[in-house]
Amino acid sequence: MYRTHTCGSLRVENVNETVTLAGWVQKVRNLGAMTFVDLRDRYGITQIVVEEHSADEVKAVAASLGREYVLQVTGRVIERQSKNPKMPTGDIEVAAESLTVLNEAQTPPFTIEEQSDGGDDLRMKYRYLDLRRPPLQRAMILRHRMAQSIRRFLDMEGFLEIETPYLVGSTPEGARDFIVPSRMNPNQFYALPQSPQTLKQLLMVAGYDKYFQIVRCFRDEDLRADRQPEFTQIDCEMSFVEQEDILEVFERWAKYMFKDVMDIEFAEPFRRMPWLEAMEKYGSDKPDLRFGMEFADVTDLAKGHGFSVFDDADYVTGFAATGCASYTRKQIDALTEFVKRPQVGAKGLIWIRVEESGTKSSVDKFFSPDQVRAIAERCGAAAGDMVFILCGPKFKALTQLCALRLEVAQQLGLRDPKKFAPLWVVDFPMFEWDEETQRFYAMHHPFTSPKPEDVEFLESDPGRVRANAYDFVCNGTEIGGGSIRIHDAKLQALIFKCLGFTPEKAQEQFGFLMNAFKFGAPPHGGLAFGFDRLCSLFGGTESIRDYIAFPKNNAGRDVMLDAPSFVDRAQLDELCLDLKKPE
Ligand code: AMO
Repeated sequence: MYRTHTCGSLRVENVNETVTLAGWVQKVRNLGAMTFVDLRDRYGITQIVVEEHSADEVKAVAASLGREYVLQVTGRVIERQSKNPKMPTGDIEVAAESLTVLNEAQTPPFTIEEQSDGGDDLRMKYRYLDLRRPPLQRAMILRHRMAQSIRRFLDMEGFLEIETPYLVGSTPEGARDFIVPSRMNPNQFYALPQSPQTLKQLLMVAGYDKYFQIVRCFRDEDLRADRQPEFTQIDCEMSFVEQEDILEVFERWAKYMFKDVMDIEFAEPFRRMPWLEAMEKYGSDKPDLRFGMEFADVTDLAKGHGFSVFDDADYVTGFAATGCASYTRKQIDALTEFVKRPQVGAKGLIWIRVEESGTKSSVDKFFSPDQVRAIAERCGAAAGDMVFILCGPKFKALTQLCALRLEVAQQLGLRDPKKFAPLWVVDFPMFEWDEETQRFYAMHHPFTSPKPEDVEFLESDPGRVRANAYDFVCNGTEIGGGSIRIHDAKLQALIFKCLGFTPEKAQEQFGFLMNAFKFGAPPHGGLAFGFDRLCSLFGGTESIRDYIAFPKNNAGRDVMLDAPSFVDRAQLDELCLDLKKPE
């Protein structure tokens, strides 16, 4: 037997027991007469002591130990002279009677402790060592507990976990596909699913009215802290439901998760906000509601006073940064630079300092004190606040102001990771216009149903059609989203037409779904949550990489496996593939 206990389990109650532990050497401290070894496994750390009177062979092994050696220890549990209240095992130590090196280890390239001295790339290259560190272990354990919790709830609610294939057909809507060549079907490709969307809809046609899957999805898109090329969804679908039914089940599910995993109780219903309100008040379809600082439309107050920046703008909007009237010129300049960065793209920043004695602003030349005060009041400013204003095309100005609101909140310490502000965003537009390709795209996906009262505008004014679509948002992150689907082949065909598909193209790509709808498709709808994002929300860190055992870096590479990589000519020949030089 390799071990009788783990390195996290021994307490004073075990004193005098003879135990065997196995783990990794975290640290060796040689104090002349005595040697202390910190032995670590994923359960904790236990102090091993080799005493002056220990057998010579035990002392010899202790003297040979290096960091991360795999060590087996047998010995007696003794109460420590000087206890360490910071460690769960801090009251005891194990007096080694035998020490066996199970495996030696090279000196690790970085310290395997709570805080490592290794940089990002190095830790990714040696991810198996990084994963030994307590923060990463906590993240993996949290992810496991959440997966169990999800399954428990959905099982109790009667959902069936059904797997769908990873080798599917390419659907160029949405993000880019990862494609996989088929050896047996030369020149043809599978695609890895961006989500099991159409397959779960087919499961509804097949009569499995409550489906879920914790499923890997693949999207070839630019990466960010909350995006990986392969990520995991908690994918769900239900039949014979309306939007209200879905929101009810999954609000209960979210509350169950908060309680079960975080011990946080939400007594009140989650807030709901129409998409347009979210955009106008927060400049985002995923507003961070942990703090206020709502936007106000001040276009009518701002225009017509001879200030051409406002006069030429389509929309003028601002918010009151709470308690920021004391911001110095330097701080305002830094925020101006922040909004002028290409990532934000504003041309400049207008400010109004609101004090008991009156207002001072960067546009005092054009406005009377009363006019400036009226703008500040519309933005909800009180004495002590600073109003920030941006203008331009409506949604551009709003999005830019959103970046500023989040930056100011960050500076004010308002983005507390221990606070949670969940929200349903509803009534999304059905389509969004893309300037570059001059066409409409489905805002959620092409299988989303329009609101019945807006169907009449589908062809005449697609931009005003709202969808039966909803997102679950928390702390400024889109955690999940879904919709009530179209289950009528004719309406589905019309939506494809609105999206610029010819009937032939729609049939070629989505014929399997539209045909299935002709065989008795039930009304259905669902949603999918980003599991990695949910883990990082609960874990309180920005990056989802910390919750994925083997993630990709920002260039989409697995630096540990050195993937993607070149393949042999023979492999390419078998697949009938030739390579082109990259442009
Ligand atoms: P959607 O595309 O909104 O919907 O995705 C659902 C959720 O998946 C997460 N997510 C990601 N997480 C990490 N990395 C990524 N690259 C990434 N992309 C998306 C987000 C998002 O809210 N089939 C529909 C759902 C449905 O309608 O039922 C879908 O995939 O948290």
